[in-house]
Formats: sequence, structure tokens, C-alpha cells
Amino acid sequence: MPEPKISTQVIAEKKSSYKKWIESEEMALVEGFFIEDIKTVPLQPWKRKGGLAVRICLEGTGETDDAYICEIPPGGGLKPEKHLFEELIYIVSGRGATTIWNGNGPKRTFEWQEGSLFSPPLNTWQQHFNGSGTQPVRYIAVTSAPIMINLLHNLDFIFNCDYVFSDRYNSQDDYFNSEGTWYAGRVWETNFVPDVKNLNLIEWKERGAGGSQVRFQIAENTLCGHVSQFPVGTYKKAHYHGPGAHVIVLSGKGYSLMWPQGGEIKRYDWGPGSMIVPPANWFHQHFNAGAEPARYLALRWGSKKYYGMMGEGMGLSDVDVKLGGHQIEYEDEAPIVRQMFTEACEKAGVQSQMNKYYK
Ligand SMILES: [Fe+2]
Repeated sequence: MPEPKISTQVIAEKKSSYKKWIESEEMALVEGFFIEDIKTVPLQPWKRKGGLAVRICLEGTGETDDAYICEIPPGGGLKPEKHLFEELIYIVSGRGATTIWNGNGPKRTFEWQEGSLFSPPLNTWQQHFNGSGTQPVRYIAVTSAPIMINLLHNLDFIFNCDYVFSDRYNSQDDYFNSEGTWYAGRVWETNFVPDVKNLNLIEWKERGAGGSQVRFQIAENTLCGHVSQFPVGTYKKAHYHGPGAHVIVLSGKGYSLMWPQGGEIKRYDWGPGSMIVPPANWFHQHFNAGAEPARYLALRWGSKKYYGMMGEGMGLSDVDVKLGGHQIEYEDEAPIVRQMFTEACEKAGVQSQMNKYYK
């Protein structure tokens, strides 16, 4: 065999296929670990959708999933679109409607308002409309665009594939308004959550301190979500899991600690509208340091139904590290954790309740 001629050029591209796509969309990209308030992040015109938007790919996603914020102008609608990545949409403010259609099936339209959560099923046509003539709609979407675009690196296939995923959506007329099904483990399989902010939650003892939760399995997606709430004067146990959990604070004030295993602890103070994405296998811990219950929505990998992505679905994130799990029990945490929380409560004029859970 003749000797190969070896070029002096390197084959490595400077940017991933996903990052190149963001550039080609002429979108601003927000990076880092934390966003203080998704309600006030500045937006720019986005030709593809015909609204205002910004793309967000925080460090903690590992570029497996991402988010974008989009605004629909008053009295207007966005352009229709379909794509081969999943998308969970949470309505930050405003009200309106979405029309979905698939192949030759009939169009289905459903209405939503601030606090609603839904997902246009994979590769269905979707179009969003603002229901107000005076107020913009702002929504945040978490998508699997990065992993799909990086794997396939073919935008024509991602945005112009005609395959109909009838296993996910088959034009059912009650798809967006059925009651869904409740399963063990606080899991609600539904395609539409009318109001995440006011949903009744179920006690979750394992994560500690009077916390409650509901998990969402939506539109046969691999991406999923959950909403958690924890009482005044309490904090949850530190734990770790895979990448890409977008934690969006809905109400309350407090802070989160995040640290790579054996590394330095960093603190992020949050309020309504803040968003944080803990990096893969970093410990993270959420603290309510305010005068009202703290509630957040997490949009993430780790579906209970379609698991196996990103090391999720193993049921270890609420199991003691001493038993081989991924959670630090209160009695094993560093003394600085409780000390910092006691100081935060004093500053906020709130009584810590943590002695009830561990002295
Ligand atoms: Fe977590």
C-alpha cells in the first residue's frame, strides 16, 4: 500500500454544527451558568419565526439540549414551522393559541395562557398566535435541537423531513384537552398543563424538607419536565444527575449552590424568572430563603417512559451517596451549607425550619 499523503491542515471544525446553525440564524446566543430573569432578557428579530427571540445554551446542557425565549407581537402570529427535534413550551406571559397539523390530517387549535406548558409533537407543523391585540406573548422553549443537529448535521433534513410520527400524534381531537393519566412516582402523562404555577403537587419525602412535586410526560417525548415546591425556611438535599435540566423559578426567592464533585461551591441567588442548568454530575442544592413557598419548573432529560438518555432514568438522584446513590443526606453535608442558610434566613427575616429535619 502506498504511503498516504498527510496534509498539514486539521480536520477539526472550530464550531459545532449546532453553533454554526445559531450563527446562520443570525440569533444572539446566551451562554454561562445562570440567567437572572427570563422575563427581561433582550430579544432580537428572528426571521425563521417572524417574532423576537434569543437562543440560550448554558454550560450545564453539555450542548445536548438548549432553550430559546420568543416573543409573539400583539395581534400577530409566528410563521408555521416543523422540525426533527423535541420542544417543550412554557408560557411566561400573555395568552394565545397554537395550531398543530400533521401530514394530511386536520388542523387542531388549542388555547393557552401564562403558566401553560405543552409540546408540539415531533415534526408536526406548528403555528403560535397571540390572543391579545395590545400585550406581547413571551414563552420559553427547551429543545433537543443541539443533539439532533450535531448528530445529523443536515439542516434540510431537520427542518424539511416529511415523515409523520403517527406514534406520537395521530390527529386525535382530544390530544390537547384530555385529562391524561396519573402514574406511580408522581408522574402525570398529559399533552397540556393549563397552569403549572397553580398545579396541586404531591409530597416527595426522599428529597427532604416538606417538598412536593409532579413529573410531566408530554407528547411521547424523551424530554420531560417536573414542577417542585418547597416550604418557607427549608432547603432540598444536594444531588447530581446528567446534563440539561433547565430549572426555571416560578415563585419565591432563594439561591442554589452548585459544585463539581470535590470542587469549589458557587452560589446563584434567584427569584421569579431566574433559570439555572446544573452541569452533568455536579452537585446542586436549592434553598428557599424568602417569605413564600418556592416553586420551580424543570424542563430536562430523564423521562420515566423513554429513559436511557444522558444517564438518567436510573432512579439514583434521590438515593443516599452512601448507598451508591447521587444524593447527600442532611447529616452528611458540609457545615457551611447549614450555616449559609441560617444566615440567609436571618437576613430575610424568616425562621429556618431545618431543625425539624436534621439538627
Ligand atoms: Fe437536580
